[in-house]
Amino acid sequence: MSFRIQPAPVARPNRCQLFGPGSRPAIFEKMAASAADVINLDLEDSVAPDDKAQARKNIIEAIGDIDWGRKTLSVRINGLDTPYWYRDVVDLLENASDRLDQIMIPKVGCAADLYAVDALVTAVERAKGRTKPISFEVIIESAAGIAHVEEIAAASPRLQAMSLGAADFAASMGMATTGIGGTQENYYMLREGQKYWSDPWHWAQTAIVAACRTHGILPVDGPFGDFSDDEGFRAQALRSATLGMVGKWAIHPKQVALANEVFTPSDEAVADARAILAAMEEAKKAGAGATTYKGKLIDIASMRQAEVIVRQAELIAGQ
Ligand code: COA
Ligand code: MG
Repeated sequence: MSFRIQPAPVARPNRCQLFGPGSRPAIFEKMAASAADVINLDLEDSVAPDDKAQARKNIIEAIGDIDWGRKTLSVRINGLDTPYWYRDVVDLLENASDRLDQIMIPKVGCAADLYAVDALVTAVERAKGRTKPISFEVIIESAAGIAHVEEIAAASPRLQAMSLGAADFAASMGMATTGIGGTQENYYMLREGQKYWSDPWHWAQTAIVAACRTHGILPVDGPFGDFSDDEGFRAQALRSATLGMVGKWAIHPKQVALANEVFTPSDEAVADARAILAAMEEAKKAGAGATTYKGKLIDIASMRQAEVIVRQAELIAGQ
């Protein structure tokens, strides 16, 4: 048992992160008008190499010009293995308005990756006299990223969120699939001739959740590629929420409502949680540490579980 208290993550809703290529400015207003909590304007893999420079200009202009409401506004820069990332950081930090909240660093492999970006961001912030510090989010999407996930979660005071990037992760791990998240046809157990599908993303998700919760970072599920499969998205998102993740990416606007639905505690779940807290208050008054609720044991740990749900509901209601 550790004597340290688990730090709380930043108190902001992060149910859905909507992505859009920086090279497609025609959709920026639509992204701003969406119900996503976080907007990710992309400079990385949805932008072709020849379009990187123009995409930076589009994004810098849009950060200042568009009304993004109360959304968290984030830009995904290119990976540290490319010739683009330093220019992404310098141009953004030198020229984008203070409305920019966050940059997303893809393909992080170790704590030093964040140190390097932090050093550059800090220098530009000081040089330009930026008073609002930029926060970071990272994508775990490589073998090195998952192997070093805990040191990455602890790497920078700027870090607020961490996502699992299923496609690059699968490629880096050498997984035999081209699917982006979700059920994988060939990953099953057999019993009496019947197939039972398991979840190949499960262990990476739990590793991310544990690293994030240890260090007060928001754990987020990444993309689900088949945007015509609503039930597949919902099933993946429900598994992520059950494991402790707070949200999921949308790579098409139709996925925003699905993510918001799954990652907003239902009225029933909140009512149950509040009833558990009330039952435990009664038990405490009677000098008991445990009681029953709807025929099941509840105790002081049940209060902590219920508090997670109530806190999340209050955070979303108060946004
Ligand atoms: N955000 C907001 N609006 C979007 C959007 C997005 N990411 N993608 C499409 N739209 C809009 C379209 O402009 C269209 O609007 P309209 O009804 O006013 O004409 C509507 O949503 C329906 O779009 P649709 O025709 O179904 O999709 P598309 O063919 O235009 O684009 C994708 C499909 C997948 C190419 C596009 O959604 C996209 O680029 N997604 C993000 C990809 C990305 O950023 N990947 C990196 C992270 S993995
Ligand atoms: Mg990726």
